[in-house]
Amino acid sequence: MTANTSFLVLHPRLNLYLKPSTSVLLPSLLNLPIKHFSQTPIPSHLSSSLVAINRNHGFRIPRFSISQNHRNLHSSPCSAQSISLNSSENVGGGRSGTLSSPPVVEVSDKIDVNPPKGTRDFPPEEMRLRSWLFHNFREVSRLFGFEEVDYPVLESEALFIRKAGEEIRDQLYSFEDRGNRRVALRPELTPSLARLVIQKGKSVSLPLKWFAIGQCWRYERMTRGRRREHYQWNMDIIGVPEVTAEAELISSIVTFFKRLGITASDVGFKVSSRKVLQEVLRCYSIPENLFGKVCIIIDKMEKIPMDEIKRELKSSGITEEAIEDLLQVLAVKSLDRLEEILGAAGDAVAELKQLFSLAEKFGYSEWIQFDASVVRGLAYYTGIVFEGFDREGKLRAICGGGRYDRLLSTFGGDDIPACGFGFGDAVIVELLKDKGLLPDLSPQVENIVCSLDQELQGAAATVATILRQKGQSVDLVLENKPLKWVFKRAARINAGRLILVGNSEWQRGMVGVKILSTNEQYEIKLDELE
Ligand code: HAM
Repeated sequence: MTANTSFLVLHPRLNLYLKPSTSVLLPSLLNLPIKHFSQTPIPSHLSSSLVAINRNHGFRIPRFSISQNHRNLHSSPCSAQSISLNSSENVGGGRSGTLSSPPVVEVSDKIDVNPPKGTRDFPPEEMRLRSWLFHNFREVSRLFGFEEVDYPVLESEALFIRKAGEEIRDQLYSFEDRGNRRVALRPELTPSLARLVIQKGKSVSLPLKWFAIGQCWRYERMTRGRRREHYQWNMDIIGVPEVTAEAELISSIVTFFKRLGITASDVGFKVSSRKVLQEVLRCYSIPENLFGKVCIIIDKMEKIPMDEIKRELKSSGITEEAIEDLLQVLAVKSLDRLEEILGAAGDAVAELKQLFSLAEKFGYSEWIQFDASVVRGLAYYTGIVFEGFDREGKLRAICGGGRYDRLLSTFGGDDIPACGFGFGDAVIVELLKDKGLLPDLSPQVENIVCSLDQELQGAAATVATILRQKGQSVDLVLENKPLKWVFKRAARINAGRLILVGNSEWQRGMVGVKILSTNEQYEIKLDELE
């Protein structure tokens, strides 16, 4: 820490934790009343300080060195001040002078070894599953000609604040950064995509077909398949106003399901269009700007009682008559019936019919069904919306998406027709578990290479290098271990071959090979080892 670096030592509220014997130490050294001791500038005469937090014993302030004239330090009792410490730690810990860095703490208690609630570690066995899943996301995206993109996990909070009262807004992990900017961990990828499309402007040629796999953060109530951090696979098409785009997106998800062994009897897609609601609301001359809000209320239909839904709709300015009509339309499960109610002239019915006809051509008709109650919980959708669900009804939505033709203008850009979907990594794993479709993903390495005595460690390294240059994976035994240990390890990592580097073979430019699946054994010249 440099002499100029700011350093937060104690916060007034933390005084509560100070032990009587120590609580007076620092303030008294600085001649300050403890109640008002806050962030206090250490002048150059203070050379160093370490504040240690001990959960059992409150604050300890060891090795606090201070020069003789410290008592001349005056402080306004209530002002927040910062302490400059003369230490090499904390370099780059934010802007000096404006904000303080966190205290240097010595934690003497054992830490909680679990990750924060709702988040996950990925030890090798979990990571293998995640990599396998992501590989399939990528492969399907590649099959459909999409390019991969990514955005920062940390974005400006404003990107995710929409007025419609979405649940996602209350679930934001947001805070002020050291430069006093409101930022948030992204809860979804779509606003970042919109931001990037606006930023790229005319330099990109449409349509864009982009996919991303990114970690998203939502402070959710934890249920099966819902957590506080999850990875989402997104595929989006920017610049295509036709329903062919939605049809193509659903086709890609069906392709993904099929790759994993999931069939149309396991999952399906509920499909509708926000234009259905729009047409009903238009009949009652309900203003356009209420539309997003109405959708958000209706999306809660399965989660809260109907009376509550009606009450919310009414208080947002919808008449009772319109509410009754809306609810009646939302219960419709067939396109023919919808056509009877809305007529054939509007976009809603026409687009949905086109989607179902395209589904036939793509070959996934049995996967999709019309369900007017699907509206989705994000305010920006404007047209077709869809959600993947498990037919046993045990899990939350597997994936969801739709058309959002007017999102860009909400960020000040020119609108471009767009649609896409998000597919989480959590529900699908639960489904695969339920269906017994989780793949066997044991670790695998092609060779394990081991020297038979200490002096041949270098020779074993040479063998490993030769094999790796030929593209073979090698687990090199790095210590002098007995053969029994080597065999155990070979079995654990699923090695295909054991390459033994022994003295007499090495003298003749040979190594010993054992094929572990068959126990076949032979010697081979080093330059013939493939
Ligand atoms: P979403 O429906 O909020 O849509 O999320 C999409 C998918 O992400 C969900 O269906 C689910 O698989 C997964 N997901 C969401 N929240 C969680 C959670 N807390 N835990 C585990 N998985 C979760 C969107 O986010 C849109 N931005 C999708 C989109 C892309 N629309 C157009 N393009």
